[in-house]
Amino acid sequence: MTTLAFDVYGTLIDTHGVLTALEGLVGDRAKAFSNSWRDKQLEYAFRRGLMQNYQTFATCTRQALDYSCALYGVELGDEQKQELLAIYRILPAFDDVRLGLNQLKGAGFRLFAFSNGEPEALESLLGNAGIRELFEGVVSVDDIKSFKPNPGVYSHFLRQSGATGSNAWLISSNPFDVIGAISAGMKSAWVKRSPETVFDPWGIEPTLTVSNLNELADRATEVMTSKKT
Ligand code: 2OP
Repeated sequence: MTTLAFDVYGTLIDTHGVLTALEGLVGDRAKAFSNSWRDKQLEYAFRRGLMQNYQTFATCTRQALDYSCALYGVELGDEQKQELLAIYRILPAFDDVRLGLNQLKGAGFRLFAFSNGEPEALESLLGNAGIRELFEGVVSVDDIKSFKPNPGVYSHFLRQSGATGSNAWLISSNPFDVIGAISAGMKSAWVKRSPETVFDPWGIEPTLTVSNLNELADRATEVMTSKKT
């Protein structure tokens, strides 16, 4: 049976909802601010993983927000920051996710959520998005106090799910995650949600590239269960 590990932020969950709130606070700089916040959130996770100076992904998110406020000279009160951070816990799933996951579950795949987020944050986020019950399990890197793309977090997923690299796929919209999973011995499908997203020119290519989870479901039985890949 093939096991699918779904990345959460940006793959299952649409972080665009933060943008709407930001527009009310920083006006027409909201998109640039939001990009800076997300990029710095991930950078802090990468740096903390490499430094072995772990703090939760929520802390990376909060400190990246503080950085972006300083960068853009935006004075936000603690309450306003808490409101923005609270949105991260109630973001919606992309429109294709529920149907796509149901199709994959119906086709006999084992479905897991696999994320940098802490377990309780993921449980409430996936529950609020109405998709938690579609997953056999939720695996968080917090268990081993490091972050993607440390190869140890992918091994941790395989141990937790009881899967082996040859029959486990990471499904992610984040190229760093796709490259990390393949480098750690898994297969990986890149969900290219934005046509303008560039995949890093590292010479490590996704095992499969799709635009959304419906296309993944359409192609999964042929591609992800055959011995070809
Ligand atoms: C995750 O959910 C950071 O999007 C990445 O693990």
